[in-house]
Amino acid sequence: MFELKNKVALITGARRGMGKSHALALAKQGAKVVITDINQEECQAAADEIKSMGGEAAAFKMDVANAAEVNQVFDEVVKQFGRVDILVNNAGIYQPKPALEITEEEWNRMIDINLKGEFLCAQRAAKEMVKNKWGRIINISSIDSGGVGIGLAGGAHYAASKGGVVGMTEVMATEWAQLGITVNAIAPGAIDTPMIAAAQIPEEAMKQMIAGIPVGRIGRSEEISAAVVFLASEEASYVTGATIYIDGGWLAA
Ligand SMILES: NC(=O)c1ccc[n+]([C@@H]2O[C@H](COP(=O)([O-])OP(=O)(O)OC[C@H]3O[C@@H](n4cnc5c(N)ncnc54)[C@H](O)[C@@H]3O)[C@@H](O)[C@H]2O)c1
Repeated sequence: MFELKNKVALITGARRGMGKSHALALAKQGAKVVITDINQEECQAAADEIKSMGGEAAAFKMDVANAAEVNQVFDEVVKQFGRVDILVNNAGIYQPKPALEITEEEWNRMIDINLKGEFLCAQRAAKEMVKNKWGRIINISSIDSGGVGIGLAGGAHYAASKGGVVGMTEVMATEWAQLGITVNAIAPGAIDTPMIAAAQIPEEAMKQMIAGIPVGRIGRSEEISAAVVFLASEEASYVTGATIYIDGGWLAA
């Protein structure tokens, strides 16, 4: 099960954190992985790591908020690999700030990267996937996206972007089901990555957050990658339009 041999998977924001973990996990299942992010050298390092483990990988600098760059990279990937089968729309920024202080520029940057970026990549990927009548699009949202009782202070712009991802996922799933493309979202809880480290959550606040998570700890990237592999696989053919919350029980408690 979950065999991905000969599939071509493009992962955004994959130089580090969860994106890199997703790339490694997909490569272990046999997929050829395309590592993309804002920094070419770090993408190349991640691709080299996968190659050293016997996988096939390529690296491209791609800013997801830049439509021209997205198109150019997809063109190049299709030239090199002939197809795109799997897209993991993982790139994102967090940068918490009280709603009273968020500037228009900060709002626009958050929406441009976290929401428009996922749209641009999904649309471009789907144009390739329809050619083979097969595709898997996995959009990364967050439990901080509205509708589930989590309104984390400092994330008005972030939650707006991640809530938009859930709505967009449902519509794309509906429109593209007959084209052989499934579109799903994963909404992680708190996961141990450089993003969480950069947020510099005070120790007491972190303790309080963990106290509300039944599993009693924050998650590991690989625990999200397992769901990415499942959604990318043939076995997930009847899963589309879903948002899978992976949060150690946070929402259930
Ligand atoms: N860590 C968490 O607790 C958590 C929880 C829920 C959702 N998420 C989401 O998971 C995804 C991965 O985050 P992470 O925790 O691994 O953080 P991370 O900061 O380690 O990874 C995010 C990656 O996105 C890249 N990126 C930023 N702007 C970009 C752009 N314009 N174009 C291309 N790439 C860009 C960064 O360079 C970075 O490599 C993000 O979408 C994030 O919002 C994270």
